[in-house]
Amino acid sequence: MSKFTVLDHPLIQHKLTIIRDKNTGTKEFRQIANEIAGLMVYEITRDLPLRDVEIETPMGKTIQKELAGKKLAIVPILRAGLGMVDGVLELIPAAKVGHVGMYRDETTLKPHEYFVKMPPDIDQRDLIIVDPMLATGGSANMAIEALKKRGATSIRLVVLVAAPEGVQAVQAEHPDVDIYAAAEDEYLTDSGYIFPGLGDAGDRLFGTK
Ligand code: PRP
Ligand code: URA
Repeated sequence: MSKFTVLDHPLIQHKLTIIRDKNTGTKEFRQIANEIAGLMVYEITRDLPLRDVEIETPMGKTIQKELAGKKLAIVPILRAGLGMVDGVLELIPAAKVGHVGMYRDETTLKPHEYFVKMPPDIDQRDLIIVDPMLATGGSANMAIEALKKRGATSIRLVVLVAAPEGVQAVQAEHPDVDIYAAAEDEYLTDSGYIFPGLGDAGDRLFGTK
């Protein structure tokens, strides 16, 4: 069974409360979603391996540390996942970015894949999927499947708000994929929205409703 971790740093909780508020507008929502994504990735990259490297400062030679492990790629699930990419790239500017396009049929709640474009070497990278919402888990499961089909072996899923149903669905289908959320909410409504959640993340990010 994969790990499910709620990253409840006080700054993350505070910022999440702001974007949950229905009176928060598009500009602020977009900025804060990115800030939370950056804070979350800062937390989950604590265990990245390091190696010694010799450099020369203006004062002389010294052995210091540099990142040693696999390279990273960020994979937003379109479209709402785009709202987390810049926040992650601020911390890891050299990361590659793959894209997986999914939309949920609003009646059946089933995901539909419409676009996948990944860096060619995804089998050699640690992949971080980002999407603000993990509701039924259908979109995340289909995105993970699409990456595995293309050779990915190391995948983590980072979401802002998770419903218990979505966490269980991903853990059941992909026990090798660890999940990180800024919050685990109460339940899914009959129409498939997370309660209390933050509404439709894509619409709030892009001002489409
Ligand atoms: C939202 C969200 C997730 C998905 C979660 O996307 O960004 O991708 O729903 O729901 P699930 O866990 O039940 O699959 P949506 O389909 O609304 O598309 P959008 O990002 O283009 O708005
Ligand atoms: N997608 C969203 O954007 N919000 C939800 O609450 C559930 C799925």
